[in-house]
Amino acid sequence: MAITESRGPAAPAPPVSAPVPPGLPMPADKEITLDPARRTVVRRTRGRRFPFPIPNGWFIVSPSDALRPGEVLPVYYFGRELALFRTGSGAARLVDAYCAHLGANLAVGGRVDGEGIRCPFHGWCYDGGSGRCTDIPYTDSPKVPSRARVRAFPTVERNRMVWAWHHLEGGEPFYEVPEVPEFSDPEWSEPYTRDFVIATCCQEMAENNHDFAHFQYVHGTPDIPWDTEQFVTDQPYKRTEAGGGTFVRESFGLGLGVLRTPGAFTFLSSTTPIDEEHVHVRWSWVTPRSLGPDAARDIGDRFLAGVSQDIPIWENKRFVERPVLTKEETGILAHRKWAQQFYSDPAKAID
Ligand code: FES
Ligand SMILES: [Fe+2]
Repeated sequence: MAITESRGPAAPAPPVSAPVPPGLPMPADKEITLDPARRTVVRRTRGRRFPFPIPNGWFIVSPSDALRPGEVLPVYYFGRELALFRTGSGAARLVDAYCAHLGANLAVGGRVDGEGIRCPFHGWCYDGGSGRCTDIPYTDSPKVPSRARVRAFPTVERNRMVWAWHHLEGGEPFYEVPEVPEFSDPEWSEPYTRDFVIATCCQEMAENNHDFAHFQYVHGTPDIPWDTEQFVTDQPYKRTEAGGGTFVRESFGLGLGVLRTPGAFTFLSSTTPIDEEHVHVRWSWVTPRSLGPDAARDIGDRFLAGVSQDIPIWENKRFVERPVLTKEETGILAHRKWAQQFYSDPAKAID
C-alpha cells in the first residue's frame, strides 16, 4: 500500500515540563472500566453531545465464539435493533431486527433456516446475505413483494471476531479488516479480552491518542511525549509510531486500532458505535508464549487501569468544535481531518 506522508503533529521541541499539580494524575481503578455503576457522572444535560453521525466502517458486533451454529442473538448497534445469527453453512449474518411484514423482532423467537432467518410471527423467511424475503409460507401468490426485505449488513469473521460493515447511505465497504497474524499464531498466547461501554463516540476516543499533554496530566507519565511520534495516513489507514518504533499503532477506520510493542504484546483495540453517544469497546491482547501464561492479562490490566483514568474525563466533557490549542497540539486537528472521511451526510441516510 502506498503510504503518503501527511504531516500531523509538527514534532515541536519539548517544552519545559511544568510540575504536575497536586491531585493529579487521575485515579486509576480498572474496576470502574468494567463496572459503569462505579463511575462519576455529573453531567445533567441530555441529548446530543457530538456533532457526528454514526461513522461508516467495519465494527465488531460479537466475538466469533459467542455465536454458535443456528443461534440468533438480539444486538443493538448503529442506533438500530439488529438480529445476529449463524447460518446453516456457518456464516455470521446481521440484519435489521424488525420484520417487514408486521414488525416482529426476528431475534426474539426467530429461527435460522438454511442461509436465512424465519420470523417467529408468521414465518416469513429472509436471506441473511441480501435481506430479501425468500418465502412467505401461507400465500398462494407466486411472487414475493420486492419491499419484503430487511436491511442486511455485510459481515466478515477475522481475528476471532464478527465484524459488520455500517454505512449510513448503504454504501459498499471501502477498506478491509486486516488479518492480525498473532491472533492465530501458536507461538502467541490465547487472547485476553475485556469489553465495556463508554458514553462517548469513536472519534473522541481515538483523539485521545493524539492528545499528548493528557498523558502527563491524566496518566502521570513523567514527561509529555511530544517529540517522538510519526504520523502517516493513507485514506482509511493511519499509522503512528512512538518511542522509536517501540509503540506502533495502526488504525483501520474509526473501529479498529492494532497496537504493537514488538516482542511484548499485540493489542487489538476496537470501538463499535452503539448509538451517536455511546460506544462498545472490545480490547484483546496477545503476548509471545515465551513471556509466560499471565503476560497478556498483566498488560491488559495495565491498559484497563489506564483507560479508567480517561473515562471520567470522556463521560463528562463536551466536544469543542473550534478548540483553543497550543502550537504543540496540531495532531488533534490532523486526526479530526482524517476522521471526516468516515461520515456521511445524515440527510442521505437510508432507513
Ligand atoms: S411479522 Fe414477521 S412474518 Fe409477520
Ligand atoms: Fe488517555
